[in-house]
Amino acid sequence: MTPLSLQEYLSREIGYDAERMDGTPDPALARLITGISEACKEISAKVREGALAGVLGLAGSENVQGEDQKKLDIISNDIFVEAVSRTGSVCGMVSEEVPEPIAVRDDLPLGPYLACFDPLDGSSNIDINVSIGSIFAILPAREIKRTPETADFLQPGTALVAAGYCMYGPQTILVLTIGRGVVMFTLDDETGIFRQTAADVTVPREAAEFAINMSNQRFWEKPVQRYISELLAGKDGPRGKNFNMRWIAAMVAEVHRILMRGGIFMYPRDSRNPERAGKLRLLYEANPMSMIMEQAGAAATNGHVAIRTIKPTSIHERVAVFLGAAEEVERATAYHED
Ligand code: AHG
Ligand code: MN
Ligand code: MN
Ligand code: MN
Repeated sequence: MTPLSLQEYLSREIGYDAERMDGTPDPALARLITGISEACKEISAKVREGALAGVLGLAGSENVQGEDQKKLDIISNDIFVEAVSRTGSVCGMVSEEVPEPIAVRDDLPLGPYLACFDPLDGSSNIDINVSIGSIFAILPAREIKRTPETADFLQPGTALVAAGYCMYGPQTILVLTIGRGVVMFTLDDETGIFRQTAADVTVPREAAEFAINMSNQRFWEKPVQRYISELLAGKDGPRGKNFNMRWIAAMVAEVHRILMRGGIFMYPRDSRNPERAGKLRLLYEANPMSMIMEQAGAAATNGHVAIRTIKPTSIHERVAVFLGAAEEVERATAYHED
């Protein structure tokens, strides 16, 4: 039997009918997720072509976080903004690559949602042909209006109605939650259809792998030093077992590995930048990935509280991230309280 398409899944779950977009429970949300999946498909095609499509290398500009933008960061951002705007389901967007909230073009209709996205995650992997992705989070809009304001987006992650990511790896895989568990779709390149290849995805309880950028060790705080040194001590240490380590430098790929085979991912705060809470961004990296984790029976904290309970104060706010197998995240979090 052919696996369910994304359209069929959305139709079943939120009543989307491509032919008849009325009288259904939440056609705006279904259209929005469909639009995002179209953007991901387009980005996936560009990623596959790489140098042939002239999309590799630097754009020659910086984003609001002071990062050098890659051509593909900008291209992916433009694709996302256009595809999301066209759904008629949002009245504003926030993107890693754009300093201020983005309004929907005047000629397009507005809808009841706000979309936050990291159009291209793992930028340092683009030019070396290693896995990258896109991350998205969908919030309700309190008011439908043409000019989105920063305050509209400063909602805690508990307000998310849907979240997900698309990973451009050996396969292009879309992982989605609309608050009813986590589902996965694999892109069939021949037909351009995302087909469901996993349902009710859960993170294995037992962790045997961790992910952290070890080169930052000297800048970590004590609780992180303790937690990692215990993992590194292996069988003879306090944990009594060996742990393996991976670091792909793309949050999408780390989260995907954790969904598939367990473990913990960390990007703690860093003493080089004491005023900064961490590296990853709350609205379009940490929150959506936390929702995925929680929906998959795992957890996500900033070392102190569940990430999704944090009330953001700015749209590009950064946060420390500890996510994955619940017991590991709880242990790392507890060490911060000692
Ligand atoms: P982005 O490419 O969207 O700016 O995000 C990169 C992030 C994240 O994906 C990854 O976990 C982390 O940066 C890697 O950081 P290091 O280069 O410090 O390892
Ligand atoms: Mn970036
Ligand atoms: Mn990112
Ligand atoms: Mn990015």
